[in-house]
Amino acid sequence: MSIDLDPDAQSALLHQAVEVVLGHARHVRDLPIAPADDPAALRASLHAFDLEHGADPASVVSLTAGLLESCTVLTTHPRYFGLFNPSPLTAGIAADILTAGFNPQLAVRSHAPGAVEIEALVIRTMGEWTGLPSPAGSFTTGGAEANATAVALALQARFPEVATGGLRALPGRPVFYASSESHLAWLKIAHQCGLGRDSVRLVPADASLRLDLDDLRGQIARDRAAGECPFLVVATAGTTSAGVVDPLPEAADLAEEHGLWFHVDAAWAGAAVLSDVLRPHLAGIDRADSVTVDAHKWLSVPMGAGMLLTRHGGLLHDVFDVATSYMPATSTGANVATDPYTTTMQWSRRAAGLKLFLALAVHGRRGYARQLEHDVALADDLREALRQDGWHVANDTPLPVVCISEPEHDETFHRAVAESVIASGVAWVSFVLLAGRPAVRACVISHRSTADDVAALAAELRRARADRSP
Ligand SMILES: Cc1ncc(COP(=O)(O)O)c(C=O)c1O
Repeated sequence: MSIDLDPDAQSALLHQAVEVVLGHARHVRDLPIAPADDPAALRASLHAFDLEHGADPASVVSLTAGLLESCTVLTTHPRYFGLFNPSPLTAGIAADILTAGFNPQLAVRSHAPGAVEIEALVIRTMGEWTGLPSPAGSFTTGGAEANATAVALALQARFPEVATGGLRALPGRPVFYASSESHLAWLKIAHQCGLGRDSVRLVPADASLRLDLDDLRGQIARDRAAGECPFLVVATAGTTSAGVVDPLPEAADLAEEHGLWFHVDAAWAGAAVLSDVLRPHLAGIDRADSVTVDAHKWLSVPMGAGMLLTRHGGLLHDVFDVATSYMPATSTGANVATDPYTTTMQWSRRAAGLKLFLALAVHGRRGYARQLEHDVALADDLREALRQDGWHVANDTPLPVVCISEPEHDETFHRAVAESVIASGVAWVSFVLLAGRPAVRACVISHRSTADDVAALAAELRRARADRSP
């Protein structure tokens, strides 16, 4: 006896799910991008499901899909100019279906040599495109896990005694450096790995919102003088708020001079290494000891696919290797990818890398490059249109993030403009503080966005500003 549906019902259910996804892609342009969140109504609608007895799969899928479509900020919409949440590519969606269907267990190589080698190939290829020598690494749930992995590697590299003795084996507090404009998962990472949030030295950004190297140099000197133990410099290539790239070569020099691990958080902008035109914007990324790149951001695959790339593959083993009798034996041999549970934070793991593999195998690096360059060109058009409309462009980046402000207006005005655009249903943009200064942020992230969508956003921002100006 099996709990599963009979073959006809299985087929009907999966086809229905695929039809729903395709139907959504066909009509998403006509849907409200940001439906209101009404918790009471939402919870009431969940009463339609009978978790005690179960129900007919067609009605369950239909109700679930309806809830998702009507109660989600539609990052799949062509005028979602929001955070780095992409419209997933069909190839990535197909890969997620295959992954769910075959359910390869990526803890050990011997259980899923196909998926393990696929992931190893993608990691190696991404590492090579990034310019890292002998690249190794792993797929993660996202950028936060990749960054946490980088901290673990950096600690291992600089203070091997921590592996067994813990942080108290050190003569002082281990501290690391990132700009105040970096992604603040660093604080969570420091908290949960026992370093403590104060160990993250948030170096003020300079006037262009980049890591201030003079300040960084001074901070390292002060920490050393106070008996602290600096171990890591983080540079961000494509900050979350403003899309600016920290001075990578100079930060690499400084890390080297002080004997510190150099990590580049390129969670979304790292995709640019796939384009010969855009790669130069990340010059210096090849100097990194480790790099974070998310496939579920600008590489447009469904959520749950980050990457940690490193030139020090051996350290992954040093940190994560555990021997147990109950894990199936390792396959060994020259150039054979090893058991992922010995090189990653996770144990049992989904084949997160399959979605990037399939998307690359379908579109190729060249197809991706054309899309990324197109996104940048659209953002350039948007920037120019907004400038002509009299907005001050508040960030300086060649990447597709456009932050605008009215310097004489305060936070309330900028929040109101962003909220008004969202409420109109025309587009989705966000409010942001750039080194404390308010701005409205628009990012071209959807492969569905067109020149007309960008023009519609510019017009909507014009309207929202006019409504709020005396
Ligand atoms: C620069 C940067 N690093 C890290 C992250 C965290 O990535 P994730 O949300 O995939 O964990 C983000 C998320 O936006 C980011 O922009």
